[in-house]
Amino acid sequence: MPAPALIVLTGAGISAESGLATFRDPNGLWARHRIEDVATPEAFARDPARVHAFYNMRRAQLHEPAVQPNAAHHALARLVTAWPAPALLVTQNVDDLHARTLPGAAARHLLPMHGELRKARCLHCGQVTAWDQDLSTQTPCPACGKPGGMRPHIVWFGETPLGLERIEDAMAACGMFLSVGTSGQVYPAAGFVAALRGRARTLELNLEPSLGSHLFDAAEHGPATTIVPAAVERLLAEAEREKKEEG
Ligand code: OAD
Repeated sequence: MPAPALIVLTGAGISAESGLATFRDPNGLWARHRIEDVATPEAFARDPARVHAFYNMRRAQLHEPAVQPNAAHHALARLVTAWPAPALLVTQNVDDLHARTLPGAAARHLLPMHGELRKARCLHCGQVTAWDQDLSTQTPCPACGKPGGMRPHIVWFGETPLGLERIEDAMAACGMFLSVGTSGQVYPAAGFVAALRGRARTLELNLEPSLGSHLFDAAEHGPATTIVPAAVERLLAEAEREKKEEG
């Protein structure tokens, strides 16, 4: 059998050991900030300065020397680039840690469905720009020059995730699904495993059972930097063995 098309879904848990907070753990971002204050279009309309402060803080963290891709990011980069069939890494994370491990042409394997902290979008002209500084309510758009319309290029609650058509196409062809470091509470990503049931092999890799853990064919629980590299080596060895048997 040729190797099946692969989708890897990741969430905040994969970046936890790189020093970035998850959302729903006891010390997570949603324990310290209310979603309706910082992560909805209504919050941005009501108090853009507060929303900017939240994302400025998170963007600045990405430049801390200690915040680097960990062994799990590196292992998944190896998996999607070495996999002998189409492979797509769909991340809910807005950090750039996967992107750092998939430079140049390898970036085609990565789809950040909830947006990217290191990009900003102009509400006046729609232009998306690479962005590493703080944003303010007065920041002018580098494309159209108008101030006041720059927002983080982030998908907020109530907005449509990015790349859904590409995800749908990949889901239609998918025969192997890995879910890594996500609590399985935010749709549509949380629904992928149920949609793939019966037609793809599904594996959860997470610190603890996610909400949809019982829907997976198999699950392994532990820190991402330990269990992800081991699973990746196993899957690649399996694919290699099957290729040899065919040949
Ligand atoms: P959550 O914070 O909901 O879940 C993180 C998961 O990672 C939990 O199940 C943890 O047990 C697990 N975890 C924590 N540390 C880990 C480690 N070292 N190794 C492996 N797993 C670990 O984050 P997400 O599922 O990513 O959306 O959340 C999904 C979306 O909800 C986010 O993209 C964000 C949030 O609201 C938006 O902001 C639109």
